[in-house]
Amino acid sequence: MMLLGTGRAVPEKILTNTDLEQMVETSNEWIIARTGIKQRHVAEPGTALSDLATEAARNALEDAGVTAEEIDLIVLGTVTGDMKFPATSCLVQEKLGAKNAVAFDISAACSGFLYGLQVAEGLMMASGYRRVLVIGGEVLTSMVNWQDRDTCILFGDGAGAVVLGPSDGERGLLQTCLQSDGAHSGLLYNPGGGCVNPPTTENVAAQLHTIRMEGKEVFRHAVTSMTSVLKQVLDQAGLSGDDLDLLIPHQANLRIIEAVAKRCKMPMEKVFVNVDRYGNTSAASIPIALDELRRSGELKDGSLVGLVTFGAGFTWAAALLRV
Ligand code: UT7
Repeated sequence: MMLLGTGRAVPEKILTNTDLEQMVETSNEWIIARTGIKQRHVAEPGTALSDLATEAARNALEDAGVTAEEIDLIVLGTVTGDMKFPATSCLVQEKLGAKNAVAFDISAACSGFLYGLQVAEGLMMASGYRRVLVIGGEVLTSMVNWQDRDTCILFGDGAGAVVLGPSDGERGLLQTCLQSDGAHSGLLYNPGGGCVNPPTTENVAAQLHTIRMEGKEVFRHAVTSMTSVLKQVLDQAGLSGDDLDLLIPHQANLRIIEAVAKRCKMPMEKVFVNVDRYGNTSAASIPIALDELRRSGELKDGSLVGLVTFGAGFTWAAALLRV
């Protein structure tokens, strides 16, 4: 498959570190030093992820010069869909008027977009789909406990989308690798809202519907796993970090990004960073980055881009993309 267009959508409202100082015991200096985050976009309560995802998808379709009716498949990576069911991708299909598309969601947390990319590639080959939308989007702030300073400073909302078409033989996905390890599911999770802890008054009062994270442990696994999966796809392609024109890592924490770059011998000049402006937008972070780079002209035709991510599950993944 190859990249035909990109798009993004983020809520207008910006929450700065100074705003957070009014909400929890924290400081602008601590947040910047420990995470690199300066601000994040946050959706108004009740915002539909399907609206953000639809806007991102419309922008990507326009960029690609593809109509909604031409789309054969919509894959949406998210853990913060509009409702438990139906799949939010079906709501996006309706809002776009993509009436010829098959639509489903992927639950892989921060890895949702890269999982979606590989699933889309597989279905394009197996089923002959020719025009595909892969979207990553989250309204993560809908599951943030605003009293928990360990987590509430980290997350932001938004969506990013790409339109894919069949590869021309030179451009496209060169390598991908997806990995999972459920042994660590208890280090980053949202216990409530599912069948184990349904949204009863007691469970909601106990904040079971919000994010739980062992930050230090997650940090450690993120660095190790992102490094190893990126090295793996580079090895499989017979390449090294030097061969990449650009690395787009998942944007969770600047210190994670720097540690992975160092271990993969990638100079930071070749590593894309926007975590300072968006915070961690989970499945949206890589497609938002792709769209920013494409619109600023930095995603050059023919360039070789590494994508790498890590998230709850644990799930992690990497891909090499010839633009
Ligand atoms: O997308 C993948 C999912 N998530 C991630 O990748 C996140 C991974 N983890 C992280 O990014 C980092 O672990 C955090 C940014 C969450 C935390 O940074 P840390 O350097 O691991 O800090 P820590 O949790 O070890 O806390 C250090 C100190 C503690 O105080 P004491 O015990 O040393 O006195 C915390 O209580 O910082 C304190 N602290 C804060 N201080 C000010 C924790 N949160 C805050 C805060 N403001 N918001």
